[in-house]
Amino acid sequence: VIRSLVAGCGAYLPQKVVTNADLATKMATSDEWIRQRTGIRQRHVAAQGELTSHLAINAAEAALADAGMTPDELDLIVLATTTPDETFPATATRVQAAIGMHHGMAFDVQAVCSGFVYALAVADNFIKVGQAKSALVIGAETFTRILDWNDRGTSVLFGDGAGAVALKAVESKGDKSDRGVLSTHLFSDGRYHDMLYVDGGPSSTGKAGFVRMEGREVFRHAVTKLAQAVDAAIAQNGVSESEIDWLVPHQANLRIIDSMGQRLKLPPEKVVVTIDRHANTSAASIPLALAEAKADGRIKPGQLVLLEAMGGGFTWGSALLRW
Ligand code: ACO
Repeated sequence: VIRSLVAGCGAYLPQKVVTNADLATKMATSDEWIRQRTGIRQRHVAAQGELTSHLAINAAEAALADAGMTPDELDLIVLATTTPDETFPATATRVQAAIGMHHGMAFDVQAVCSGFVYALAVADNFIKVGQAKSALVIGAETFTRILDWNDRGTSVLFGDGAGAVALKAVESKGDKSDRGVLSTHLFSDGRYHDMLYVDGGPSSTGKAGFVRMEGREVFRHAVTKLAQAVDAAIAQNGVSESEIDWLVPHQANLRIIDSMGQRLKLPPEKVVVTIDRHANTSAASIPLALAEAKADGRIKPGQLVLLEAMGGGFTWGSALLRW
């Protein structure tokens, strides 16, 4: 069988850092409240004029360099974002032009915070059926642009950034010892729209709108839906929790991350956490965490890596990879 092997990772964070204490000078909040409820200490915020595509291009170039690949070898770019530069064309096509790739295909995927897992599943399926031999999967967001800074319940939670993963097709035996993406499981249920959405868009208000969230309800659903997604990955691949080397979760809330780690009986050292420094970067959080844990030598070839995410829609999902 053909598998999608992770050949390289890249990350990019805007230079400007905004701490909880900085936010507390602008609204009725405190470092203590934010840290205790979420685990967030700071977030990166894109400068004026710095667009989602700029972050994505930097992450994409870093991933290609890490993989030792050139744009000529790339067949596909799938970019997950909720904050595209423009309503159209896809931000992926901006990246395609900027990195000098003049062939193949590039498009965006929208699944909010589950976007990277969705984009990875799409790229993996293109590779498995033979329609692409390589792909760049990017999660990139300027999420702070859709925050209502008068709503302290949402505006303290998010940050900007981008991460990318370069995939290559490899022939494999077809069992769980294979390297590459072993499985992806995607779910959505549109009945939960009102718990997490943006109150605008080209067809409704003609404006981009702001994030609206019932935080407590999202939290409650996240725990059960993420459990469903990771259970599906474990069951399909016949692996036990103790075989998982790394949990790389979407970074929305440290308490959600901890509860998933405990459910999988993983010690905290096996869970990759960036939320303290990045906050919730939506579709970018998983590839940012992957890039960090690969670069610092934590994730090593042959190890089993479990990804999970949940976001607006609701959408949720998981991916199991052997690195
Ligand atoms: N600073 C200080 N106080 C605050 C703040 C703040 N930034 N925000 C809210 N509060 C207050 C509220 O007004 C409320 O006060 P009250 O009791 O006087 O009414 C109190 O704190 C408690 O508010 P809750 O919203 O009930 O607090 P909760 O413990 O649920 O924590 C949080 C809120 C952190 C948002 C939590 O619910 C959460 O993390 N939920 C999950 C959110 C999530 O994962 N979202 C991302 C999904 S991914 C995507 O697709 C975007």
